Amino acid sequence: MSEREQWGTRIGFILAAVGSAVGLGNVWRFPFQVGEQGGATFLLMYVAIILIIGLPAMLVEFTIGRRSQRNPIDAFEKLGHREWSFVGILAVITGFIILAYYSVVAGWTIRYTGASITGAYFDDPAGYFGEVSFGIEALGFHAVFMVIAVGIVAFGIKRGIEACTKILVPAIIVLLLGLIVFGLTLEGAGEGLTYYLTPEFDALRDNWMELLPSAAGQALFTLSLGMGAMITYSSYIADDDNLVVDSGWIVGFNTAIALMAGLVIFPVLFSVGVDPADPGPGALFVGFGEAIAEAPASELIGAFFFGTVVIAAVSSGISILEVIVSFVIDHFEVDRIPATIGVGVIVFIVGIPTAFDGSILDLYDGVVAEVLLPLGMGLLVLFAGWFFTDAKDELLKGLGPATRDWLPTVWLWHIRTVILAVAVLVLILSSGGAYETLMEILEATE
Ligand code: PHE
Repeated sequence: MSEREQWGTRIGFILAAVGSAVGLGNVWRFPFQVGEQGGATFLLMYVAIILIIGLPAMLVEFTIGRRSQRNPIDAFEKLGHREWSFVGILAVITGFIILAYYSVVAGWTIRYTGASITGAYFDDPAGYFGEVSFGIEALGFHAVFMVIAVGIVAFGIKRGIEACTKILVPAIIVLLLGLIVFGLTLEGAGEGLTYYLTPEFDALRDNWMELLPSAAGQALFTLSLGMGAMITYSSYIADDDNLVVDSGWIVGFNTAIALMAGLVIFPVLFSVGVDPADPGPGALFVGFGEAIAEAPASELIGAFFFGTVVIAAVSSGISILEVIVSFVIDHFEVDRIPATIGVGVIVFIVGIPTAFDGSILDLYDGVVAEVLLPLGMGLLVLFAGWFFTDAKDELLKGLGPATRDWLPTVWLWHIRTVILAVAVLVLILSSGGAYETLMEILEATE
């Protein structure tokens, strides 16, 4: 077995899980999904999915992790279902692909931290993003991020990261609140709020086949679900933890940060007359760029904001890397340092195309969020619901007396039926979408 760090306290576990969950998914991916999917209608679907699917699905990973006390690949064997280990392998493959492009986007945030100090993007945030997002320099920042992540996972300074997260995540909330208040004073902000917060039920009815896979993909991505990261983290927790309460905190906190990021970005984009769908993956950089450029002490606020995002991205990135590395250590019997460096190099190479071409980055991102994560989650739910006979018992441990009698049963039937059905539906809907995207790319390269 690889070294097993222990969470000293319950709050230590919650913070680490929050560290994994809170990242680019909240501040980068969420606003750009909202922008591309038409605003409030997507938001409504997303919040519903977080509650109906995300929270119970997180409990699936927590029960598997705590009962097995293993990483996602060995967990199945430990639970007496070796034939399910392929789900762990799928998790590792998914991890490779996520981290490959996650690191490229994280590289942008590293660049923006420096560019805030020099004020490089203040005059023309959209133009600047267009110039720097892809190309050889983006590749360089991708390398920088991978070196940081490899350094942490190989040499184990996770505690340092945890300590930083503990201070910076609350700090970013305060900063976001400040920027929300500031953004709302801008002219035209009201329109942005309407766009972000007033769902159209007609649009929901007409577009649900497109909205559902995007919202589900975003929910899984932002909660770090579907590829075993939460199995790994929960393999270190104590039996008397109330998993339902813990996941409530993690999900609540994570969702609040994303919602706040949207509250800054959309009013600001509307106030400067940018169509929220236009910047695509640049929504964060253009939206915050505009907000920060107009605010007092822009250099300082910008550097602090993007610097914090870098740290949030690091704490998420290492949770992905850890899943892959612990697999490599256990199965190829290599030491932690060479294993981490080797994995880091491969991830870097897999990410190269996404540093040069936005449509490839989109492809990786779409396949991960709408195919691989729902597939992983669907399989985990199928396993926990129908094959892992102790799932209900494991959830029961640490539950308060008020919920003990009914909650595990309701949860079990919910995952057995509702979540499983939604996972299948999402996969059906998204495989159509993924096919279309692939065809578009093939056509474009011809
Ligand atoms: N949840 C992380 C984020 O929002 C990304 C992530 C996905 C981490 C999957 C682990 C597993 O940035």
